[in-house]
Amino acid sequence: MLEEVKEAFNRQSEMFDQYEEQNEILKRLRTVVRKHLLRHIKNGDRILGLNAGTGIDAIYLAENGFQVHAIDLSEGMLNKLEAKINSYGLKDKISFELLSFTELDKLCKNNFDYIFSNFGGLNCVENLSEVTKHFNKILKPEGRLTLVIMPPLSLWEIALILKGKFNPAFRRLHKNGTEANIEGIKFTTHYHSLKNLRQALGYGFQLIEVQGLASVSPPPYADKFPKHHPRLYKHLQ
Ligand SMILES: C[S@@+](CC[C@H](N)C(=O)[O-])C[C@H]1O[C@@H](n2cnc3c(N)ncnc32)[C@H](O)[C@@H]1O
Repeated sequence: MLEEVKEAFNRQSEMFDQYEEQNEILKRLRTVVRKHLLRHIKNGDRILGLNAGTGIDAIYLAENGFQVHAIDLSEGMLNKLEAKINSYGLKDKISFELLSFTELDKLCKNNFDYIFSNFGGLNCVENLSEVTKHFNKILKPEGRLTLVIMPPLSLWEIALILKGKFNPAFRRLHKNGTEANIEGIKFTTHYHSLKNLRQALGYGFQLIEVQGLASVSPPPYADKFPKHHPRLYKHLQ
């Protein structure tokens, strides 16, 4: 399954940044995540970026003075990140490594202050503890983390019942995951509840903050909504 995920995101890496540039919803959600992050990261923190993609956040964090080590499964994504590091002159602030977050025991660095995973990379794994089991070894004792994960309940999708669309309304609740199709490659995604995440993290971690992202506003794939219903979109935010 990792091979399919890798190939899907390799293909997507070509258009990833352009897609976000044209998607009002995605841009807004990233702004919300960054505000959250800036409330929790501290000056001088060394950050591990899991599933860093093309490094949109890594560049932002580095430009704000943080040291980032970015990992991703897809070399296509990391090639884009490398090009940005070179053109922004950020070699001393960002390092990167081609690695699955299920293999954090092979990381070339450790002793991080903060672990960050954005925009559902962790929804590509069925069992979150395959990732979290490594956290104690790579985080400093007072280390913190922010994980942005898509949950099993989406009010937006459940509201599709009103349109008679029952399959999409409950698609996230399938026990064995939900089929995703990225650039023609199919693989299984898994929607994780906060309870799942806390179980995977275990007792060594304390919950500091839970924040909903697009809890009642449209998800990024409903990208026409803001243009067609600007006032309603504003209210739903
Ligand atoms: C939706 S993209 C998000 C990228 C980035 N976090 C962002 O916010 O722009 C999901 C990313 O997760 C990565 N990914 C999926 N499974 C992974 C794994 N097992 N290990 C590391 N990265 C993975 C993909 O290659 C892709 O870059």
